[in-house]
Amino acid sequence: MSKSPRKFSTPVKWVSEINWRLTGLIIPLVLFLMFFSLHYSYTSNGFNAFYPVQLLLHLPFARDNDQVSNKEELLRSKIAVCLVGGARRFELTGPSIIENILKEYPNSDLFLSSPLDSDTFKFSLLKFAPHVAAVRIIQPQPLPENESYARVLTPHNSPNGIQGLLQYFNLVEGCLTMIKSHQKKNNFMYDWVVRTRVDGYWNAPLGPQNFVPGKYLVPPGSSYGGLNDRLGIGDLTTSTVALSRLSLIPHLDSAGFTNLNSEAAFKAQLTTQNVSYVANRLPFCVVSDRRYDFPPGQFGVPVAALSSPGPLSGAKCRPCTVVCEGLCVESVMESVEKEWSWTDWENGALSLCDAHKEWESGWEKIFDQVAGKKHANARKRIERMKIGECVRDFDELRKKSAYWSAPPGDEICTLGLSPP
Ligand SMILES: *[C@@H]1O[C@H](CO)[C@@H](O)[C@H](O)[C@H]1NC(C)=O
Ligand SMILES: *[C@@H]1O[C@H](CO)[C@@H](O)[C@H](O)[C@H]1NC(C)=O
Repeated sequence: MSKSPRKFSTPVKWVSEINWRLTGLIIPLVLFLMFFSLHYSYTSNGFNAFYPVQLLLHLPFARDNDQVSNKEELLRSKIAVCLVGGARRFELTGPSIIENILKEYPNSDLFLSSPLDSDTFKFSLLKFAPHVAAVRIIQPQPLPENESYARVLTPHNSPNGIQGLLQYFNLVEGCLTMIKSHQKKNNFMYDWVVRTRVDGYWNAPLGPQNFVPGKYLVPPGSSYGGLNDRLGIGDLTTSTVALSRLSLIPHLDSAGFTNLNSEAAFKAQLTTQNVSYVANRLPFCVVSDRRYDFPPGQFGVPVAALSSPGPLSGAKCRPCTVVCEGLCVESVMESVEKEWSWTDWENGALSLCDAHKEWESGWEKIFDQVAGKKHANARKRIERMKIGECVRDFDELRKKSAYWSAPPGDEICTLGLSPP
């Protein structure tokens, strides 16, 4: 009697092994076909025959599958992309933003909020953006600094003191104002708002896992005693809190906060409004012309090479010849304060520049090699741009944009380009 179960055990095992093997064969096959058809349906620039093979090699399957269905949903949802800040090196950052955010979510609407300066003409590249909802380029005016602002904010570490913070907050909140007015005019609501910086260089697409319902998503690191405020993604409710950077200051004042930098004020405004946040690493760095000591001290700022694999989550970067990688990065980053300018560096994500001087000569060649031919061409387009072409591009951009509040194209173009 006790032997009879054993008699069955071999065939049962055998059958289940067949099942297991079949499942192991069928599941990848089905997923293969799913990836194949899904990818095919949203590849706009032609079909990549190797893509299914790449996906097959990219285990585990289930995770990719989640992302694919999530992405499909995102492609059907309403996304506002808010681009904030001065044009600075937009000839380097702009094409990477167009490719990795705007074209990745081709239904998304772009909202640009920027101050007028001699680099503004570089926004002519935005004529290549899929959808432009609003452009607001303002002549910066000093904003009143009352006691409320003076109490809550600190001028420390802000290049232009409290006034600099207020100008920046005003640009961010200006984006929210445009989004709300665009919604009202067209009688719909956005599902998501992606807030990102004009000076962000993206080396990989913005992934669907960064859209988290009910939470505000920020990058880890570069937190300067608060929360990294170089990018944020959230639904309309959380984004309304996150982008109300000027109007929430009186609330922070009455809650007793004082001496906050931008990052600390950002954290306080989320926590006092009960918005929970989550951190995800993101594949962009902030291209900066500022100089920083090398190696950075405890409260210094490490400057990443633009060629770093990343994700850099908004750390400062520039195109440079790498001076420090591997064990060198490890020893540098262990001395950098975790709650300040620290950023994730493990597994070779980060290579460092010596940024104590201005950008090295020949940086253009370094950039072109890292960014590839297409982005190199955009850089050269701006480098060689003449006023006439600039004005034509701005005309095209203005025609694409539902809302336009900016000086005339020829004024923007002559401000940055010398006459022919
Ligand atoms: C400071 O100015 C803001 C915006 O004009 C206002 O909301 C706030 O109440 C003012 N605070 C004080 C203390 O005057
Ligand atoms: C946040 O939550 C606390 C505690 O639940 C509550 O007292 C406060 O009113 C909430 N604040 C806002 C702005 O919702």
